[in-house]
Amino acid sequence: MRVVILGCGGFVGSHLLDNLLDDPRYQIEGWDPEDRKIRRHLVNPRFTLHRTVAHAPEALVEVERAIVHCDVVINLAAICNPADYNTQPLAVIRANLFDVYPIVELCAKHRRWLVSFSTSETYGRTISSYLPASSDADPDLYELREDETPLIMGPIRNQRWTYACAKQMTERLIYAHHTEEGLPFTIIRPLNFFGPRMDYIPTRDGDGVPRVLACFMAALLSGEPMQLVDGGHARRTIVSIYEAVDAIRRVLEKPEASQNQIFNIGNRQNEVTMAELADLMRRTYATITGDPRYNDHPIVTTSAEQFYGKGYEDCDRRMPDIGKAERLLGWVPTMRLPEILLGTMRSYHDEYAVPKAA
Ligand SMILES: NC(=O)c1ccc[n+]([C@@H]2O[C@H](COP(=O)([O-])OP(=O)(O)OC[C@H]3O[C@@H](n4cnc5c(N)ncnc54)[C@H](O)[C@@H]3O)[C@@H](O)[C@H]2O)c1
Repeated sequence: MRVVILGCGGFVGSHLLDNLLDDPRYQIEGWDPEDRKIRRHLVNPRFTLHRTVAHAPEALVEVERAIVHCDVVINLAAICNPADYNTQPLAVIRANLFDVYPIVELCAKHRRWLVSFSTSETYGRTISSYLPASSDADPDLYELREDETPLIMGPIRNQRWTYACAKQMTERLIYAHHTEEGLPFTIIRPLNFFGPRMDYIPTRDGDGVPRVLACFMAALLSGEPMQLVDGGHARRTIVSIYEAVDAIRRVLEKPEASQNQIFNIGNRQNEVTMAELADLMRRTYATITGDPRYNDHPIVTTSAEQFYGKGYEDCDRRMPDIGKAERLLGWVPTMRLPEILLGTMRSYHDEYAVPKAA
């Protein structure tokens, strides 16, 4: 299978390459200016990397050639860090909508199957978050169903919704090309994939504020307090990157079932508040290091405005209905959160805390 992957050098892309390049049937051509996480694959004759963004006019000529000759295009390219949504709103809208636009057009022009990575944030806030607390008990008011749930964003002044909104518009663009021109597509809405190589550790191999896993990990590694935004009440479901990649693999290998569908990819069993996640992570790190002092690693609360800047507002809860992925792909995630954290945090520990042999 000939696969084009845009944004192949990031967290998901690096794990997808590990998985697909293990199988001699896959031939991959990728675009990403970053290659730090995928260096080991650069010598593989079944993988070609173009170290550039895919949407630049000069790159698009090569991208179109690759699209014509491939079986499927996977788009992972994005700016997808919450700290950027309200602080660099133009860059976020461009990266997640306008830079993707020419890729969608090329796939439509050549009728190439486009597997597009969206986000569970396209759902926005749950209906129950606008109603009295008692409505929390009714799954119809909070469960996220791909083809039924309304997509509820906050006001324009809360620029935190730039990412969710740009991703939603890209989904609508793809769906319009499908209905009017027959573009074959699959849209994936990831729900908090966790695993090694997610983001970076600030001051070590990146700057700014990474996603929550790397934020908490950075605090543990540096001895700084873990910071809970707005009390850490927001709830997320966590799924292992390895099981998520297995879902993507099933999408690729079952086109008759996966084409022209939107899939939630998440694990309903692993729901935690951010406060619970911080506590579980510090206890897991105590186990990994053998140092019981991490059990009491300081946790402080901060406001969203202080942490992310003006215009931040959180999605309250993301509980996916994953019945469609189970039914059509035969995909059932089973890895529980403590196991996911143990493996993931051990890899960060080995990478950043254990001195490397000279
Ligand atoms: N990881 C998750 O839990 C999660 C959750 C929700 C959505 N997603 C979506 O899944 C996709 C992959 O996420 P990730 O965690 O790997 O993100 P990531 O930031 O680790 O990787 C994205 C990669 O895209 C590259 N890139 C950006 N613009 C590009 C362009 N124009 N051309 C080529 N490369 C470009 C970046 O250099 C980066 O390596 C994204 O679309 C993201 O929005 C991921």
